[in-house]
Amino acid sequence: MVCGHPDAPKAHPATEANTHHTPRAASAPSPRSSAALSDSQPEGTLNRLPVIFAITGASGAAYGVRLLEMLAVHKVPTWLLISSHGWRLLTEECGIKDDRELKKATGGDWTSVRVFDDKDRGAEPASGSARTAGMVICPCSMGTVAAIAHGTSRSLIERAADVVLKERRPLILVPRETPLSLVHLRNLTSATEAGATVLPAAPGFYHHPEKVSDLVDFVVQRIVDHLGLEIRLVERWQGK
Ligand SMILES: Cc1cc2nc3c(=O)[nH]c(=O)nc-3n(C[C@H](O)[C@H](O)[C@H](O)COP(=O)(O)O)c2cc1C
Repeated sequence: MVCGHPDAPKAHPATEANTHHTPRAASAPSPRSSAALSDSQPEGTLNRLPVIFAITGASGAAYGVRLLEMLAVHKVPTWLLISSHGWRLLTEECGIKDDRELKKATGGDWTSVRVFDDKDRGAEPASGSARTAGMVICPCSMGTVAAIAHGTSRSLIERAADVVLKERRPLILVPRETPLSLVHLRNLTSATEAGATVLPAAPGFYHHPEKVSDLVDFVVQRIVDHLGLEIRLVERWQGK
């Protein structure tokens, strides 16, 4: 089963205190993240800032499904945005056609997940005054990378990414395309120069994966690490 992992362990619930939602705490704080962490809200509130999570129309919908499952299972406040081609890929690759099926494939409990319409550019993620812990786009199409690199803001996903960059909050892009044209490379460079982290859907093989889900988890582990979430899916490399 590539999407949804019905049989796979739900991370390691009893280890690493992994129900804590501590954006950026587990990774080296960047100048961009410090603004979110040093604001003046009462302790505890800041840790509950929502992560904006967008799924766009690149291959690798399984990465998005597994990441959403981890966010939902660990009750990480999540603002979910899915482009029309994101839905197309969810259907093509995972057989998931709507919110109900996506909820089922991601553990069935969406009490921490709020769904936004990608066509609504007036929704909360469109404004920098709505505070968030940052944004992940997984998978991220080259079309969306181009839009972000050029600030077009023609959908809620594009606008939310634009806002996250201008507010100097973390933006993690998980592109999947091969080979890459010079246009792709330039757009990825522009996004990086503007503050984004490009985290390609390129799993390693040094943990001896046996199943597709092992490869998916490798990438999702790197994403949650970059969000500073204490969720453990993959054994960490300890040297030989
Ligand atoms: C089956 C399928 C697979 C696709 N795979 C990719 C891909 O791996 N990477 C990519 O950048 N675009 C891919 N595309 C193209 C994007 O979906 C297309 O450019 C779309 O306009 C992106 O829009 P969005 O970013 O708003 O979702 C694929 C499209 C389809 C239908």
